[in-house]
Amino acid sequence: MRIRIFDDAARLADAAAQEIEAWIRLSTPDASLGLSGGSTPRATYERLRRARLPWDQVKGWMIDERFVPPDDPDRNSKMVGDALFDHVPADLLTVPWIEDPIAAADEYQRQLATVLPRAAGGLKPGLIVLGVGTDGHTASLFPGTEAVEVTDRDFVAHWVPRLESWRFTATMPLLQRARRTMFLVSGAHKAQIVADVLEGDGDYPATQISQESRDAVWLIDREAAGRLSA
Ligand code: 6PG
Repeated sequence: MRIRIFDDAARLADAAAQEIEAWIRLSTPDASLGLSGGSTPRATYERLRRARLPWDQVKGWMIDERFVPPDDPDRNSKMVGDALFDHVPADLLTVPWIEDPIAAADEYQRQLATVLPRAAGGLKPGLIVLGVGTDGHTASLFPGTEAVEVTDRDFVAHWVPRLESWRFTATMPLLQRARRTMFLVSGAHKAQIVADVLEGDGDYPATQISQESRDAVWLIDREAAGRLSA
């Protein structure tokens, strides 16, 4: 695992965009990019759209999604489209908008098989970009929810009581099979969870993915790194 610490969120976004760009260059024509929502990655996606890359060989997909209509400002794929995919000739596979979230997750799981290669163990994502919540969630895998325990599916819809809403999320086994895993974390309010995940013995969803990932990199700004020991 690598940990990189930056003076501020802007420098973090610069470095994250450079790392993603380098990874795409090395991975085309099989570059798949799994993207999260949240506020931290937006600046990274906006920088990335200026990169001159073989975008037509890049396959984007959503790591998690909120159960709201396609144009809703809360929709992760709307943010990812606004920030990046509406500006480059790459495809973004979005979660279909249908009334039944379980059926939508089933359909998305089928569609993922058309963009991600299959290897021993199942579908194999390329680079995935994740954030971390102050409760240790990553993707829409919230501590204590059943979705965290799912081992026989790649993508699920689940009711999150704390949010009183449905969330779609890639499951632990799919995320743990990624070739590279990038965590982006910014802000003083994340300092405690960053220390807990990287140095504590808690079993947060973010910990389980980071520890099982074959190639994890954490890009953290100084504020979010404020409680790390070294
Ligand atoms: C979402 C996410 C989620 C996010 C974290 C961190 O839909 O909200 O995909 O897992 O990455 O909550 O979000 P911030 O970057 O906004 O702190």
